[in-house]
Amino acid sequence: MVCLGNICRSPLAEGIMRDKLNQRQLSWVVDSAGTSGWHNGEPPHSGSIQVSKMHGIDISGQKSRKFTADDFESFDVIFVMDKKNRDDVLALAKTEAQRSKVKMILDYNDNSNFEEVPDPYYDNRFELVYQLLEDACENFLSKESV
Ligand code: 4NP
Repeated sequence: MVCLGNICRSPLAEGIMRDKLNQRQLSWVVDSAGTSGWHNGEPPHSGSIQVSKMHGIDISGQKSRKFTADDFESFDVIFVMDKKNRDDVLALAKTEAQRSKVKMILDYNDNSNFEEVPDPYYDNRFELVYQLLEDACENFLSKESV
């Protein structure tokens, strides 16, 4: 799960996906990172911690880190939150196989009003972001897991 700062959107996406994997008893590895590295080592934003807690998910132990080219080898799917994240991640890809791992997470969302996950760092819409990510993660897993 990749966003810009790895403190608002992608930590939520990581927490939601991990919760759903646990519920399905799937031992897939899920992680998150930011394209910027501006918040390296920091916990998620208080708004993301709060909204996930309201939905029974604890993301307070996560630490922000920067996305690196090695992540293309460590993960099968790389979800990005918006087009800028996609451009920044694709700029680090070296092969077509790596490029094809990168997906806009809201391609899996039913609500076609949102192509990109809005950044709650600027507008505080943490609950909206939670709902968009929850729906996308659920749809992805119902398509990809047995
Ligand atoms: P995120 O949100 O990419 O969803 O983690 C942001 C976090 C920090 C900043 C911008 C967006 N920032 O400018 O520091």
